[in-house]
Amino acid sequence: MLTFRRSVVVAATVLLLFFVFFSDPKSISAKDLLHDVELEQKLQKNRQETESAIRELQASTSRADDAQERKIELLEAQRKNLEKQLQQLRRLPPDAGVRTQLAFQFPYDTLNKFPAYIWQTWKQDFDDPNFDERFKYHVRSWDEKNNGFVHEVMSDQTARTLIRYLYMNIPQVIEAYEAMPENILRADFFRYLILLARGGTYSDVDTEALQPIPNWIPDRIDPMKLGLIIGIEADPDRPDWDEWYARRIQFCQWTIQSKPGHPVLREIVAKITETTLQKKKENRLQLPSTKDRGSEVMDWTGPGVWTDSVFGYFNDPVKSGLYYPVTWSNFTGMDQPKAVSDVLVLPITSFSPGIETMGAGGDNDPLAFVKHHFEGSWKPEDERMNSN
Ligand SMILES: *[C@@H]1O[C@H](CO)[C@@H](O)[C@H](O)[C@H]1NC(C)=O
Repeated sequence: MLTFRRSVVVAATVLLLFFVFFSDPKSISAKDLLHDVELEQKLQKNRQETESAIRELQASTSRADDAQERKIELLEAQRKNLEKQLQQLRRLPPDAGVRTQLAFQFPYDTLNKFPAYIWQTWKQDFDDPNFDERFKYHVRSWDEKNNGFVHEVMSDQTARTLIRYLYMNIPQVIEAYEAMPENILRADFFRYLILLARGGTYSDVDTEALQPIPNWIPDRIDPMKLGLIIGIEADPDRPDWDEWYARRIQFCQWTIQSKPGHPVLREIVAKITETTLQKKKENRLQLPSTKDRGSEVMDWTGPGVWTDSVFGYFNDPVKSGLYYPVTWSNFTGMDQPKAVSDVLVLPITSFSPGIETMGAGGDNDPLAFVKHHFEGSWKPEDERMNSN
């Protein structure tokens, strides 16, 4: 029960608390305000003193500063002069050959990674309503198997624009590309050009990805020691092989993986450029309509000149570091991937599974990576063979 005494104590306590909380802050605040003004004045004085000291110091050192500034200007001028001289050294002499210019524009370094690009071309762009449904299925297989890769499916027109851009400093290459009388030649040339400049994987639109691209390299082989990955197209182990194929071992060029600047690509681009400009000079650009048409394409831009370029590289010790001759016999009957110099050669099963000849395994073989459906209407199957 509340007694009188108790209520007096409670009232006194409430009053005391009231004073503590509400009267005290006002007086502290006023004191602080006074203090702040004094402090502000002190700071202002201090700032003025500091600024005038800095001005004095600056005046006394301005002469030294001027000298310093002139020294810096002189060094800058010398640096610019050196830079100019360096640039002149870096520029190629005007008569540098196509090979030198290619090596200069697209240097090769095995220590680079294989770029995560997939390059494909067809008459139309992928989203064009006329783009063939069959190819759409094959093209999508590359996306499904290769998450995170940049996948470009370009129309012939886009490919042309890209090549003009990438090779603008090597006009001979563009001249050769433009001079080609038919798309089949340009489509062949394009794959070497894009891989030389950007690297990655090129594959025809009628190929189907069976496994992710990184699976192509066996665990036992260090990717940093490789620069080019190719597959065997034909290994016709029969006495009359030359009635069917132009080369005893033929490497396919419907699927190729490379790092930018690989010397095999540099060589084939240089060779095709020279051949084409020579034909242009002699007015021999048109493809024959006879049975020689196939073998002409084969040796101008197709698997014939491709296979020769690969063997040319293996047998050039300066480029490949190999001191023993390398011939078709090194690759016949292969059933496992084989690294020769910085080139990984895949067995026939890898890019031609299910052909049921020349020792190829089936589509489910662990080494089956890409299935070629041979539906490219620009390249009838007989054009990859000899004149027969
Ligand atoms: C190619 O085969 C020849 C003859 O059998 C052999 O001497 C050479 O070492 C082989 N080269 C490679 C790179 O396998």
